[in-house]
Amino acid sequence: MSAAFEIFLQGAPGLEEILAEEAREAGFAHATPVPGGVTLQGQWTTVWRANLKLRGANAVLARIGGFPASHLAQLDKRARSFDWSEVLRPDVPIRVEVVTSQKSKIYHAGAAQERIERALTESFGAVIDAGAPVTLKTRIQRDYVQFSVDTSGEGLHKRGHKPAVGKAPMRETLAALFLRQTGYRGNEPVLDPMCGSGTFVLEAAEIAAGLWPGRDRSFAFEHLASFKPDLYARIRAEAPEPLTDLPDFFGSDRNAGAIEMATRNAEAAGLSGAIRFRHRALSDLERPAGKPGLVIVNPPYGARIGDRRQLFALYGRMGEVLRERFRGWRAAIITSDGGLARASGLPFLPTTPPVDHGGIRVTLYQTAPLP
Ligand SMILES: C[S@@+](CC[C@H](N)C(=O)[O-])C[C@H]1O[C@@H](n2cnc3c(N)ncnc32)[C@H](O)[C@@H]1O
Repeated sequence: MSAAFEIFLQGAPGLEEILAEEAREAGFAHATPVPGGVTLQGQWTTVWRANLKLRGANAVLARIGGFPASHLAQLDKRARSFDWSEVLRPDVPIRVEVVTSQKSKIYHAGAAQERIERALTESFGAVIDAGAPVTLKTRIQRDYVQFSVDTSGEGLHKRGHKPAVGKAPMRETLAALFLRQTGYRGNEPVLDPMCGSGTFVLEAAEIAAGLWPGRDRSFAFEHLASFKPDLYARIRAEAPEPLTDLPDFFGSDRNAGAIEMATRNAEAAGLSGAIRFRHRALSDLERPAGKPGLVIVNPPYGARIGDRRQLFALYGRMGEVLRERFRGWRAAIITSDGGLARASGLPFLPTTPPVDHGGIRVTLYQTAPLP
């Protein structure tokens, strides 16, 4: 696979266009939104860079090839002669996942998985293990078997420098996409008055500093035959020096434990000087001095935490505080409950369709600068 191949950035369905925009701005030319993610063409170095640099992708998949197969015996035979050695290593355990479509004659994913696993074991010498560091994803669609390798490993929302996670955290990848959807590009203050473990302000400060989200973690691609440690070290060394003249970032929460967590997370990310965390309830929120920016928050919602009647009062109070004290700032609220969002009385712009967040469909409600 020395020629260019297809790379798929798995993203949040509904935010594909936002992820494609991020990818294009990060230098991945021709990144194209498709349902469930973004495709681009590239080499292994492109794969490594995408894992290191992109904030909105959940995983980076390398499409490593495939073949037509309309019955299991054919799948078996072709899987045995497929050149796995270009990408996989026989000494690294592999996990196999198969998804079949109704439009294929091979419809039994379990039987297909078993054939592929057997081919890998018997013809390639690989060890199959459900907890393996490398996952081979197989999609059988219209009688074509397509193999992809998940080059990320652990989901990319795991930044590698966030030790503490709260009760209902926003995924870092989704937080980054929502920040981008509000128009945030790293050059204005950001405040989250119910910050929990600090996800929004941490992501915002990292964006402003120009930090690479993958700088502190390892990836599945390090276990592939295509991996070249020296070249990878050179690519990591391309990371720019973090900017130090940053806008202000503020996080507060009425839960003291959350503020302790957020503070530890900022330290681990090397951002403790950039973000001011305070233990403070929403009602005591003060407008920071200086130029206006973005208030972004995901208040408690739905069945996850809290009771709806109390939540109406909370959202109402939040709207009051923002309207009275935050003129000129933009407000962005992420919630699963449109009724609660409206209870804030904030003048929202038209919304885009909801996005799945751990089984709950959340929507970004955002305003223009508050009058
Ligand atoms: C859904 S969580 C936010 C999660 C956060 N975005 C994260 O990624 O960790 C909601 C947060 O609102 C806080 N909260 C609830 N009522 C509050 C109030 N009246 N004032 C300040 N914080 C409040 C809770 O303590 C909780 O941390």
